[in-house]
Amino acid sequence: MELKIFLLIASICCFAITHVSGYCSITLSQDESLRPKLYKNIGSRKALIHTEGLSYQFNENEVITADCETRVQSPSQFSGKRSIDCKCTTSYIQIDGTSLSKNLPVQCDKIKWNLYESSKQFSWCPTPMASYLLARPLNNIYEYLAGVCYNFDQQQILNIHYAAAYQLSKYQYPTRLQNYSPTVEILDIPNKFVARRIKPTNFKNVEIQEWMKFSQYENHSIIQDPNLYNKSYDKFGGFIELDWWPSLRTGNWRLYEKALREHIEADKEIYDVLAGVSNSIAVPSYENVCRENYTMIDVIYRDNQKIPLYVWHYLKSLKEANGTDVVVIGVNSAFSDFYKEKDLIFCTDICHKLDWLKSAQATFHYKTLGLIFCCDANEVKLSKRLEGIPMASSKPVNSGAQLLPLPLKRPKEEYDDFNEPIRMET
Ligand SMILES: *[C@@H]1O[C@H](CO)[C@@H](O)[C@H](O)[C@H]1NC(C)=O
Ligand SMILES: *[C@@H]1O[C@H](CO)[C@@H](O)[C@H](O)[C@H]1NC(C)=O
Ligand SMILES: *[C@@H]1O[C@H](CO)[C@@H](O)[C@H](O)[C@H]1NC(C)=O
Ligand SMILES: *[C@@H]1O[C@H](CO)[C@@H](O)[C@H](O)[C@H]1NC(C)=O
Repeated sequence: MELKIFLLIASICCFAITHVSGYCSITLSQDESLRPKLYKNIGSRKALIHTEGLSYQFNENEVITADCETRVQSPSQFSGKRSIDCKCTTSYIQIDGTSLSKNLPVQCDKIKWNLYESSKQFSWCPTPMASYLLARPLNNIYEYLAGVCYNFDQQQILNIHYAAAYQLSKYQYPTRLQNYSPTVEILDIPNKFVARRIKPTNFKNVEIQEWMKFSQYENHSIIQDPNLYNKSYDKFGGFIELDWWPSLRTGNWRLYEKALREHIEADKEIYDVLAGVSNSIAVPSYENVCRENYTMIDVIYRDNQKIPLYVWHYLKSLKEANGTDVVVIGVNSAFSDFYKEKDLIFCTDICHKLDWLKSAQATFHYKTLGLIFCCDANEVKLSKRLEGIPMASSKPVNSGAQLLPLPLKRPKEEYDDFNEPIRMET
């Protein structure tokens, strides 16, 4: 009797031990951007593994491929490779005949994006602004993260074009940028595009000084989605910063960005985003006018630097290619009480009509959290009230003398929403 129990226990132990000893695990970094994609090898095919948590366990004789978007950083013996095959054996993980610990940390290099001048001006970037590409060489071609239109005169970003897609989507970068090539690389970005924080003493006018003390504008990135920022945009310093009114940035704009991110993940959405700044803030002045009256005076610091009045996202859904494009506009002014509301909100607000924005938009009209409104992109263009937003452009006029007879059917030139000419197949 006792012998039987002993044998039973012994066999359970044996089973448990051999079973446990068959497991291997790959441990992953806390930082999501450093994690490889893991694939199960099934015959000649590979199936993507959806990992939950910071380690992945697999069985003896299984082979897991760890694939880095950049290259492997650890295990260091394999640093520089794009992907490694990890085979679980009884007592170790084997990679290319090298035996390593059964508990193996695998980590990728951080994605490094470089800054280049673009071969030609983006069609949505008006002259004399400068067009820059954030890109990296990858297997002899370039991969593009974003396009930045920069205003040298005011030393501030005008707009940035990037893609916002759900986590496992193949579409992470905007295809539109492939019409442009990188030329000169700009090195040492933080020293070339120096970050700056406004000090009230930057202003000579005493009234403006007082208003600036009160409103506390801060330089922060135009990219406010924390995942996007941490993954790719935290190295560009002043190049992509603007002077934010903190109440808008940490108030309604944060709520909007959160709702957008949740919508993108939940609905497996993909957007081409053009994010930009327009116009400039003004503050009330009571000098030279009767007591209860005021005039609005422009806030300009250093030589020609301005604080944008509007921060906006032009959202172009690639999934619903036939849907209407929306522009979400934040009022970056601590002084909206001094404007008539219709002077600030210059188009029909449709935030409440967007399903994914329904719960977030409840506070969009509280001025203390920063006003936000949403409009049909066409209405915004027609209003001509947002400086720097791409306008629907008409066919360029041919002013030269007409030497050749006109073709019977003149090919119609069409432009898409960021003014990129649509090539017609002929
Ligand atoms: C803002 O500018 C200052 C320099 O004036 C810089 O140190 C800082 O990193 C910039 N960015 C943020 C987010 O504070
Ligand atoms: C982004 O990085 C900051 C600083 O390293 C960190 O505090 C924050 O939690 C990160 N956010 C995300 C979403 O990863
Ligand atoms: C305030 O200004 C408006 C127009 O600028 C003028 O019509 C009005 O009389 C002024 N009010 C006072 C009290 O001065
Ligand atoms: C796009 O929408 C218009 C009007 O709503 C419709 O006439 C057209 O057929 C749609 N096109 C596609 C490709 O769905």
